Amino acid sequence: MHFPALPDFPWDSLAGAAAVARGHPDGVVDLSVGTPVDPVPAAVGEALRAAWDSPGYPQTWGTPALREAAVDALARRHGAGRSSDEGLDPDAVLPTIGSKELVAWLPTLLGLGRDDVVAFPDLAYPTYEVGAQLAGATPARVRDDEPLPAGTRLAWLNSPSNPTGRVLDAAALAARVAEARELGAVVAADECYLALPGPGVLTTSVLDPVVHGGSVEGLLAVHSLSKTSNLAGYRAGLVAGDPVLVAGLLQVRKHAGMIVPRPVQEAMTVALRDDVHVAETRARYDDRRRVLRPALEAAGLRVEHSEAGLYLWATADEPCRTTVDRLAARGILVAPGEFYGPAGGAHVRVALTASDERIAAAAERLAE
Ligand SMILES: Cc1ncc(COP(=O)(O)O)c(C=O)c1O
Repeated sequence: MHFPALPDFPWDSLAGAAAVARGHPDGVVDLSVGTPVDPVPAAVGEALRAAWDSPGYPQTWGTPALREAAVDALARRHGAGRSSDEGLDPDAVLPTIGSKELVAWLPTLLGLGRDDVVAFPDLAYPTYEVGAQLAGATPARVRDDEPLPAGTRLAWLNSPSNPTGRVLDAAALAARVAEARELGAVVAADECYLALPGPGVLTTSVLDPVVHGGSVEGLLAVHSLSKTSNLAGYRAGLVAGDPVLVAGLLQVRKHAGMIVPRPVQEAMTVALRDDVHVAETRARYDDRRRVLRPALEAAGLRVEHSEAGLYLWATADEPCRTTVDRLAARGILVAPGEFYGPAGGAHVRVALTASDERIAAAAERLAE
C-alpha cells in the first residue's frame, strides 16, 4: 500500500495547549477551529426534514431547482453575471459535499499530476496543498505580490482569506485572472467567506464581470454554505463558473460517486433562496469582531487585515506557539499561524465562531 505522503494533521499538535485552556475554572473559550455554533436556520432544517423519504439516488448535478437557486443567489448576493455573454447559467453549477472535498480533489478531478504546479496563497487553508499532493502535482505558495510560477495549471484565490481575513479588490482579482489566462491555468476562487464582509467592506466574486471582463472561461468559484448558513454539519457547497470545466467535473464526479444527499440538496435550495439569515449571520460576526478585536489589541497583540470573514489574524511579535500558550493559560484556545504556512510563524488565528457569551468571556480574560 502506498498512501500519499501528506502532512501530519496539524490540530493534533494543539492537544497540550487545549488541555491547559480547558483547565480554566470558567471553562475554555475555544477560538481555534472555525466551526459555526449558531443555529441552522429553521426553514432550512424543515426542508431537510421534509425530504427524509428519499430512497432513490440523488442527482450528482443537483436538482434543477437547486442549480437555479444557486445561480440566482450568486447573482443577487455577489453580482455574478447571468446573461449568456457573462456565461453563468444553471448548467454551470454543481453541488459539492461541502467545499473541502472539492478543494482537496480539484487538482485530481482536473487531471493534474507531476510537472503541473498548483499555486495558492503563501498563507492559506492547508487543503490547497493537500489537494496538490493527492494529485501528485507540485504545490507552490505564492504571495499576492509575486507572479504565478511557470507551469501553473491551477491557481487558487481565497478572498476573504482564511487565515488573514484579507480582501482582494476587483483590480487585484482581475490581475490574477489575466495572469492565469496568459499561462493557460484554471483559476479557482475559494469564496466561502464572500458573504461575510465586515462593515463597510466590499467583497468581490471572480464571477463578477468587473473581474472577468465578460467571459468565465477558465474560472471556477467555490462556495460553501457552512459559514454563511451555519450548515457545516450538512456538508453543503457548490462550484460554479466555466460551463466546460463544470461539465468535466460533473462527468468525473458521477463516476466517482461524489453526490450530495437529496435531503441536503433540498435544504441548500431553501438556504440559497433566503438572504435574511445571511444578513443575521453577518451581523453576529460583526458584533463578535467588534468585541474581540479591541480586546486583543488592549492585551498587546497587533491585529492585521481581518476586515472580513471569520478570523482575526494577530501577532505579539513572538513565536506563534508562545502566544498560543500565553492565551491558553487564560483559558483561550487559538490556532498557531504556522498551520497556514511558514509566513505565519509569528501570528495566531483567532476564530469568531463562538457564542456571544464565550466571546465576551474571552474579552474579559484578555483584560485581566
Ligand atoms: C478557505 C476555506 N475553504 C474551504 C473550507 C471548507 O469548508 P466546508 O468544507 O465546510 O465547505 C474552509 C473551512 O474552514 C475554509 O476556511
